[in-house]
Amino acid sequence: MSNVHVFDHPLIQHKLTYIRDVNTGTKEFRELVDEVATLMAYELTRDLTLEEVIVETPVGPATSKVLAGKKLGIIPILRAGLGMVEGILELIPAARVGHIGLYRDPKTLQPVEYYAKLPKDVAERRLIVVDPMLATGGSAIEAINSVKKRGAKNIQFMCLIASPEGVKALTDAHPDVDVYIAALDEKLDENGYIVPGLGDAGDRLFGTK
Ligand code: PRP
Ligand code: URA
Repeated sequence: MSNVHVFDHPLIQHKLTYIRDVNTGTKEFRELVDEVATLMAYELTRDLTLEEVIVETPVGPATSKVLAGKKLGIIPILRAGLGMVEGILELIPAARVGHIGLYRDPKTLQPVEYYAKLPKDVAERRLIVVDPMLATGGSAIEAINSVKKRGAKNIQFMCLIASPEGVKALTDAHPDVDVYIAALDEKLDENGYIVPGLGDAGDRLFGTK
């Protein structure tokens, strides 16, 4: 069964307030999403595996630790997931980035895949699939189907705002995937938008409305 983690770190919650604010413009919105993605990645990577090494300090040898274990992959769901990539790469610059292009059909709300390009060794990596919004859950479920179809086995999902409906749909469909969110909102409206949410994440990030 999936674990669902809501990050209640004060800095994440503070920045999320300004991300939600209808008066926040594109430039500031983009910067804040980037910053929150960094903070969330910091929390999410707490359990990375370490191994002991000996390092020579100016004073003598020290037993210390470096990262070991699976290499990471970041998989943004296009478009809006792109807004979270740079923030994560700041902490994990060696991570590979794959892309899954999906849009949600405005009438049926069903996800439609139009692009997929993943690192070759995706089966050996720990993947973080990212998208600011988990609304009906259709896009996240389809993106994870898509990476699993290409061999991925170790997957986490990270988003800014989720609806209860989206969390249930995703964890029912992919019980092996842990879900990391900054806020769990109240509900979906009749158009499948998260209430109160932040509006259309892609449009706010890229200024397309
Ligand atoms: C938004 C968002 C998610 C999806 C969430 O993308 O970025 O990918 O909707 O909704 P769901 O959980 O109901 O599937 P959108 O389809 O608007 O595409 P865009 O990122 O290209 O704007
Ligand atoms: N996609 C968004 O960008 N926002 C929502 O509230 C729902 C889906």
